[in-house]
Amino acid sequence: MRIIKTKSYEEMSKKAANIIASVVTLKPDCMLGLATGSSPIGTYDELVKKYEAGDLDFSEVTTVNLDEYKGLPKENEQSYYYFMHEYLFDKVNINPEKTYLPDGTNLNSEEEAARYEALVQSLGTVDLQLLGLGRNGHIGFNEPGDHFEDGTHCVDLKESTIEANKRFFESADDVPKQAYSMGIGTIMRSKKILLVVSGEEKAQALKDSIYGPVTPEVPGSILRFHPDVTIIADEAAMSLI
Ligand code: GLP
Repeated sequence: MRIIKTKSYEEMSKKAANIIASVVTLKPDCMLGLATGSSPIGTYDELVKKYEAGDLDFSEVTTVNLDEYKGLPKENEQSYYYFMHEYLFDKVNINPEKTYLPDGTNLNSEEEAARYEALVQSLGTVDLQLLGLGRNGHIGFNEPGDHFEDGTHCVDLKESTIEANKRFFESADDVPKQAYSMGIGTIMRSKKILLVVSGEEKAQALKDSIYGPVTPEVPGSILRFHPDVTIIADEAAMSLI
């Protein structure tokens, strides 16, 4: 596990984008696992800048996203489909047919989880999985619990996650109560993992993930068992370490 401490969110984002850019440069037809939330927005902005400067080509890249809210249509501004198009897909030369997310509009949880898991596996191995960390230590939408889920599944979101994510919605009541998420097994099968963490409200979750016991109570702690993890965290997120 490599831990890179940065002075700011901006520096974190630049360093993360450099790592992703190196993967795309070395393997133009790579498969990227992508994340949503406020943590990776700066990373996507930096990737867009590199593309606009002519330094990056996404035409052969395939992407699979970690998660999606159950019940939100694609055109809903809070859907992760909308987010990915807004911050990355519509700004670079990626082939939209090679970008995949769980389908939030499929309300049949078992069917959608099985479909997405089979799809991700059929596409091959994720070369680099980008992750953020939830305030309660979640990765993707793998919430704290008594076991690690292997494959894609439907999650009942924790109150603390609904509370943390309500800033993007009109009220907590508007935050969907369920989501589809890749499982811990799906994430751990990626060749490389890149975790970006910013802000004081993540400091405890980051400390617990790096130094606490490896436990499903802190889903991020499982990353210690992965052979190629890079964590880029700003000073605020590292403040308890
Ligand atoms: C969200 C997402 C995660 C994300 C995390 C942190 O609920 N499902 O993939 O990493 O919570 O979000 P943020 O970066 O906005 O703090």
